[in-house]
Amino acid sequence: MALLRARCGQHAGGRDNSTARLDHGDIVHNILVTGGAGFIGSQTCKALSRAGYLPVTYDDMSRGHAWAVRWGPLERGNIADADRMREVINRYRPEAVIHFAGYGYVGESMESPDLYYGNNVIRTGLMLETLRLCDVRNIVFSSSCATYGGVHDRAIDETVEQRPLSTYGFSKLVVERMLSDYGRAFGFRSLALRYFNAVGADPDGELGESHDPEPHFLPRVLRTAAGQEPFIALNGDDYPTSDGTCVRDYVHVHDLAHGHVLAVQAVIDGGTTGAINLGTGRGSSLLEIIQVARRVTGRNIATEFWPRRDGDPAYAVADARRAALVLGWKAAYTDMDQIVAHSWRWMCNGAHRVREVTIEPRAGTESVR
Ligand SMILES: NC(=O)c1ccc[n+]([C@@H]2O[C@H](COP(=O)([O-])OP(=O)(O)OC[C@H]3O[C@@H](n4cnc5c(N)ncnc54)[C@H](O)[C@@H]3O)[C@@H](O)[C@H]2O)c1
Repeated sequence: MALLRARCGQHAGGRDNSTARLDHGDIVHNILVTGGAGFIGSQTCKALSRAGYLPVTYDDMSRGHAWAVRWGPLERGNIADADRMREVINRYRPEAVIHFAGYGYVGESMESPDLYYGNNVIRTGLMLETLRLCDVRNIVFSSSCATYGGVHDRAIDETVEQRPLSTYGFSKLVVERMLSDYGRAFGFRSLALRYFNAVGADPDGELGESHDPEPHFLPRVLRTAAGQEPFIALNGDDYPTSDGTCVRDYVHVHDLAHGHVLAVQAVIDGGTTGAINLGTGRGSSLLEIIQVARRVTGRNIATEFWPRRDGDPAYAVADARRAALVLGWKAAYTDMDQIVAHSWRWMCNGAHRVREVTIEPRAGTESVR
């Protein structure tokens, strides 16, 4: 630890790569984006670049894609690798870190909690120590509505008690607590963005979701529409919702990316800390999403009802008023047809980037993510 501190201190003076200058003289602030090669991280890098920042992606590529890193350098590395992280930090001297790197699947976390405690909690803890010793104390963190858990029948605001049902949700809650403790003890400034269900694709068609296997509901519905899966399975038709299927708040990835730009600026400016929901405030049931997908694609989409899955709340919709108040953020995309159309276009036009996989039909209830 002492060695790490000494080395960080030694290099911190040489800020040769810390900032770049635009032709018109504005300073470009570097933002370290862990997990910047993933779905939401890559879209955020594009938004950061458009806002005048240089996004430096730091990603071990375990679940990311080099083709998605187009708006700044790609530095390969694991967040737990202190030497590698320190090297990258000393090279770019970032103003802040946006921390996407982690695993994000409820089902996987219940089957393999070791992965989630290991990657989301322990490695993040190691990363925070590296950041502290390198004096990088501004952080925006990818948290999740899965931290709320429990039973809700109306929009969830940030004051609702967090009682996660899944290991995944708990891993995010632990990191929120770590950030709060590092704030109190070490002067970290952080915003935990609790997003609801990220969907859609880059409105310009340059980026989109590409997971292998793909556990997320909408891409699986669209794969069924494309004939890549025989049917979409829905877990549970007896929830206390209008049509018996789960209700989720689907927020466009472009809106999430914009939220991160506002959040990182707020943290750098020192104006705020804590947690903020990012969601639309509107819920759609799984059957409604399938209807939208049928309309947008013009394809038949076969469904099968399967039993409920443990840990899936009936209803998860954001009260996002705090995001509006604190960040001036509001979801711009609220029309599900448009959101699904972006995903469908990505699936059709960006398909060459996606490895073909044989997909077993399996649970299709939408987790809270
Ligand atoms: N997708 C959603 O709906 C959703 C909702 C709420 C929260 N989140 C959280 O947002 C973040 C991003 O989600 P996503 O959907 O873009 O996921 P993603 O899997 O597409 O991207 C995650 C990226 O992190 C990288 N990564 C993982 N562990 C790493 C490590 N130890 N070191 C370096 N890189 C590592 C992966 O290679 C990948 O590129 C995740 O933390 C996820 O839990 C996602």
